[in-house]
Amino acid sequence: MDTGLAPESVLHSREVEEVLTGVPTSDGAGVKLTRVLSQPLQRRLDPFLMLDAFGSESANDYIAGFPNHPHRGFETITYMLFGRMRHRDSAGHEGLLENGGVQWMVAGRGVIHSEMPEQEEGRMEGFQLWLNLAAADKMSAPWYCDIPNAKLPQIQTPEGVGVTIIAGRSHGVEGAMQREKTEPLYLDVHLPPGSSFQQAIPSGHNAFLYVYHGEVAVGEKRERVAAGHMAILANQANADGVKLNAGSNARLILLAGRPLNEPIVQYGPFVMNTREEIEQAMVDYRNGRFVS
Ligand code: CO
Repeated sequence: MDTGLAPESVLHSREVEEVLTGVPTSDGAGVKLTRVLSQPLQRRLDPFLMLDAFGSESANDYIAGFPNHPHRGFETITYMLFGRMRHRDSAGHEGLLENGGVQWMVAGRGVIHSEMPEQEEGRMEGFQLWLNLAAADKMSAPWYCDIPNAKLPQIQTPEGVGVTIIAGRSHGVEGAMQREKTEPLYLDVHLPPGSSFQQAIPSGHNAFLYVYHGEVAVGEKRERVAAGHMAILANQANADGVKLNAGSNARLILLAGRPLNEPIVQYGPFVMNTREEIEQAMVDYRNGRFVS
């Protein structure tokens, strides 16, 4: 079958370095979520700072939402699989994020925003990822864009693997977003039973995947990673990508990026390079300098 796609050729797959489960926690005004990537992994998974997975049928777990809060020094990428969430920010922007859509926000020198559910029942499921900004870009002007599901590039491989390309490129197809310094790859991959999938990843980039449905076998060793687990993919010098196999239906997000190799200092919603810059962020926030 000619799909018009350029096959990803991976000669040597990365193997699983470590499998981790997230930590159940709550954030905002009491939204229940699982922190999959937390602060102790920021150095290992540079340029990624955080990944939260949320998924619940119960309104009590999400209805309180995320009222006004600030960010400075990084990017937030929210991928909403199911549900509706309204975003408002201090620059006067407003948008609705729903079923399968992505919001990509660069907080830069500072934004105050809220993310509130616009549903009182039904399933809400998705991910929020934090991606670091290079030191030179941390005080840049904030911006964001809403990308509805219909505008996200989606491909299907000859084996029937469905891929939504949020960032980076796969099988010769450009994703919705490209970022120059961190070169993030962000794929949502749906593998049907018995299928396999390959994705090229530069060996120097840090990479991980999080399975949210079913189970996937990773690498030549076919190490199994089940739903609710994250696998850090080893940076083997000879590996040029990753190979995945699925025995039954599996769904996962696959992420990779070029490390910034800069100091990381986080205090809550501020991520800078030095302690002094964090103190400055707190002073600026208290003095209303986050409102553009
Ligand atoms: Co936020």
